[in-house]
Amino acid sequence: MTAVTARAHTNIALVKYWGKADTDLIIPQTSSLSLTLDQFYTDTTVAFDADFTADTVILNDHRLSRDASQKVRQFLDLVRQMSGETRFATVTSTNHVPTAAGLASSASAFAALAGAASRAAGMELSRADLSRLARRGSGSATRSIFGGFVEWQAGHDDHTSVAVPFQEQVDWPIAMVALLLDPHEKKVSSRQGMQSSVTTSPYYPAWKQVVAADLAAIKPAILAHDFTTTGEILEANAMRMHALTLSANPPYSYFNGDTLTAMQTVRDLRAAGVACYYTLDAGPNLKVFCQTPDLPAVTTQLAAQFGADRLVVAHPGPGIEFL
Ligand code: ADP
Ligand code: DP6
Ligand code: CO
Repeated sequence: MTAVTARAHTNIALVKYWGKADTDLIIPQTSSLSLTLDQFYTDTTVAFDADFTADTVILNDHRLSRDASQKVRQFLDLVRQMSGETRFATVTSTNHVPTAAGLASSASAFAALAGAASRAAGMELSRADLSRLARRGSGSATRSIFGGFVEWQAGHDDHTSVAVPFQEQVDWPIAMVALLLDPHEKKVSSRQGMQSSVTTSPYYPAWKQVVAADLAAIKPAILAHDFTTTGEILEANAMRMHALTLSANPPYSYFNGDTLTAMQTVRDLRAAGVACYYTLDAGPNLKVFCQTPDLPAVTTQLAAQFGADRLVVAHPGPGIEFL
């Protein structure tokens, strides 16, 4: 038995993935673009053993029930099918990020699992193939194989739907301040939420146009270190994604009261001359994008209002690593 451990970091989408064209293969409706973050990650160890009579999944020192471990066990089936491995496995995973709170635990989790499980099963996959494999566990995990700015090209099948590094070594002094307003598990998973948006929001066709335009505009802005354009696009893109939840049937929202207060804080900071913009994934926790010279002003205000213990200052992070 050889155990393999991989570490993958979460990513925050600046232009978001919110909807699948193929729910089985996890082919998205649109491409998306993200930044991998250094402060949030998952470590996962996988070991296959002939003595095991079932797959076991241990997350943060707790053994998951059959229900809770279903996605991981399905993923192991896929790895066994690809590799010819026939034994069961034990998966031991630790999230250095709140689980299912809208901080992209599924991205770091399935990227790390793709790396550890494929190697433990004897495969040596390229990073592109790891990205394709991670996609089968969670769409956002496709991008967490790579560091820095990453584009997930939607594609149209298993081979063409894959992430490509947009800028792995980020030479721009930027930060993402995570504001942990509520670390509890969300009621509507990303998977359920986006599917309901695709099938019931009348705004979904417009969203696809928004994403195409945002991607085309944000890429040159990032390369030019054009902070204002990048910030305006990522903030508007997040709000338009959340408009799909409000316009779904039944309508729902990932925001809580603190989320709205924090959004106003960011707008007030901007009005006071501090350059910063917010984004948020499927959860109430805001991420505030700024350049490092503005970090003290941003963190001082957020700490005064919400408490310093709720802030994590993240920077661009690396791609998958084997430990
Ligand atoms: P998030 O915003 O955290 O990505 P999602 O709803 O997308 O939330 O996904 C949360 C789900 O991801 C969890 O319920 C669990 O099934 C899975 N998950 C999270 N962390 C791990 C992990 N380390 N190992 C396996 N599965 C995980
Ligand atoms: C709002 O990748 O968690 O974070 O593919 O169903 O596992 P599944 O969903 P997931 O959705 C992420 C949605 C998002 C935006 C993004 O990361 O692009
Ligand atoms: Co997720």
